[in-house]
Amino acid sequence: MTEPLRPRALGTDHERVDGWAKVTGTAPYAAERRVPARAHLRCVQTTIARGRVTEIDARAATALDGVLTVLTPFNAPRLRSGHDAELEVLQSDEVWYRGQPVAAVVAETPEVAGQAADLVRVGYAPRQHDVTLSAGREDLYRPEVVNPAHATDTLTGDPDGVFADAARAVEAGYTTAMNHNNPMEPHTTVALWDEATLTLYDSTQGVHPLRDTVCAMTGLAHDRVRVVAPYVGGGFGSKGTAHPHVLLAVLAAWRVPGRAVTFALTRRQMFAFVGYRTPTIQRMRLAADIGGRLAGLSNDVVELTARYKEFAEQTGLPARTMYAAPHRRTTHRLAALDLPVPSWMRAPGECPGMFAPEVAMDELAEACGLDPVELRLRNEPETDPETGKPYSSRNVVACLLEGARRFGWRDRPPVARSTRDGDWWVGTGVACSTYPVLATPGASSATVRHRGHGRYEVSIGAADLGTGSWTVLTQIAADALDVPDAHIELRLGDTDLPEASVAGGSSGTTNWGSAVVAAARGFRAAHGDDPRAGDEFTAGTPDDGLRDEFARYAFGAQFAEARVDVVTGEIRVPRLLGVFAVGRVLNPRTARSQLVGGMTMGLSMALHEQSVLDERLGFVVNHDLAEYHIATCADVPSVEAHWITEHDPYLNPMGSKGLGEIGIVGTAAAIANAVHHATGVRVRDLPITNDTVL
Ligand code: MOS
Repeated sequence: MTEPLRPRALGTDHERVDGWAKVTGTAPYAAERRVPARAHLRCVQTTIARGRVTEIDARAATALDGVLTVLTPFNAPRLRSGHDAELEVLQSDEVWYRGQPVAAVVAETPEVAGQAADLVRVGYAPRQHDVTLSAGREDLYRPEVVNPAHATDTLTGDPDGVFADAARAVEAGYTTAMNHNNPMEPHTTVALWDEATLTLYDSTQGVHPLRDTVCAMTGLAHDRVRVVAPYVGGGFGSKGTAHPHVLLAVLAAWRVPGRAVTFALTRRQMFAFVGYRTPTIQRMRLAADIGGRLAGLSNDVVELTARYKEFAEQTGLPARTMYAAPHRRTTHRLAALDLPVPSWMRAPGECPGMFAPEVAMDELAEACGLDPVELRLRNEPETDPETGKPYSSRNVVACLLEGARRFGWRDRPPVARSTRDGDWWVGTGVACSTYPVLATPGASSATVRHRGHGRYEVSIGAADLGTGSWTVLTQIAADALDVPDAHIELRLGDTDLPEASVAGGSSGTTNWGSAVVAAARGFRAAHGDDPRAGDEFTAGTPDDGLRDEFARYAFGAQFAEARVDVVTGEIRVPRLLGVFAVGRVLNPRTARSQLVGGMTMGLSMALHEQSVLDERLGFVVNHDLAEYHIATCADVPSVEAHWITEHDPYLNPMGSKGLGEIGIVGTAAAIANAVHHATGVRVRDLPITNDTVL
């Protein structure tokens, strides 16, 4: 057990401490920082998907008034190789994907930079490219997925054997679409090389991780690179690791010292080189007895990666841990294609990886003549099926029952296509959610400094993507120091502050909050109840060993209502309701916002989001928000997020589980299941479009 924090500020509906600055436009985002001597960067992108750059004629661009420099693979400063191929921008003549940065213009104004970029002439020696993902193209697949954190494949028992003999069985293929992260604030890097220091104002999910990457790529020492990011307009994972634009800005800043080189991506460029969610092809098999108790479960996953760098979406993970089944298998195969490398997008792994299993469970319920809630209740594991460890807490059942009660599930007709309301078929569906409690002990630390009169400055290099870190860390610090939250002055988002882990994997509050509590407790132990101004204490996130002892996951259950137009097939989701088990909710306002946001993004994935590749040209053609559809207000009339009271002493001093990502997990399956219940049409491919249900 960890020594729990006595909650006073925690658990209250504290308004965002950065709210006023945000709504009054005084919270500076990366592109808005006041900087000396700004210069503007525009990049030239490849128009082929594979081959070589043979020549670049930048004479017309360079001659333009106001152009400071033009960088190409033939004249750019050298970066270190071997660390991260994605970031070796302008380091060779090789073209790995269409849209790859191939030259950069730095100019006095954005207009001149843009005009000059248009004047750069690039010659290519193209090669035949391949961007087509499909099952059964064994020539494309990497048999071994290099992933240090997880097994590529898992096998327990004989899932094929039990499948062949099962009383009830479901087998089907499912697909999820390529999706692109579209945070409100496009990626931006402002890079300033001043004397001996490189300063980056970046829209990032982690200032220290970004600094470490820049140091690894440039060879600069840590104390010569500073990254600042107090406010970030969303990221969803795409700002969790550096992408080529950061290094492009760094190279340019090197070339024009003293200038604050600003590279603010266009929305279209966000579809080119800052990551996306791979499409997935999943082959699911469920085998059960006549009462729906699972005997076997397998999920065989095919997805894509880039040729120049591997990224393996961990789509098979949830099938390893969600339900009790003695015989189980998961496999991952990656097709290496001539595309930009995929990356994190909200709940990478779990999000696509719960779609197939949770739709398959709905199909199994139908095959068994069971209510889908009941089927899930019958397949609750005693311990984590993957590791055999006890769960620190597992309240799937409570979420299902509470959700069913709130949603009015009891009145649901058992048979599909049995409710019509005017021109609409009406149906309801359910799916479960899960997301691990990730913790990185030692990766974060915080400093508590007494400013006098019971007021404290609390510093940590954490990030707030709009999720609420400013607010919740203030609350944690207040409770840990036993002072009113108004007595806390929080500082975050700067590498000059104590080192902090990335805002990713829903781990921020766990890691940073634990560090803040450790620093506060250390401070009180060192300085007593009556500290002097200037007293301070720094401590890191302790390792309590709990993550080795327990399987730690957040869980949830999501319920959806779907209405499908009998004539046009138009699909509407008037109601989404989720109940989650996420430990102690530290701030209901910011927590609800995360859960509702995740569910909305899940609805968007279910019905709208799809990056369409033109296979002849090798790029995403619907690369803007006019054509890449995202759910808007009219698409989400009612989204409710609730949570059960959960006391889990095996997490951290706050008693919290991360909740930034779980909201998107299972949503698309709940909607697909609701569409089936409405229409009788089983949809296994996302997004669900009108034509599929007619
Ligand atoms: Mo989240 S996709 O781990 O930033």
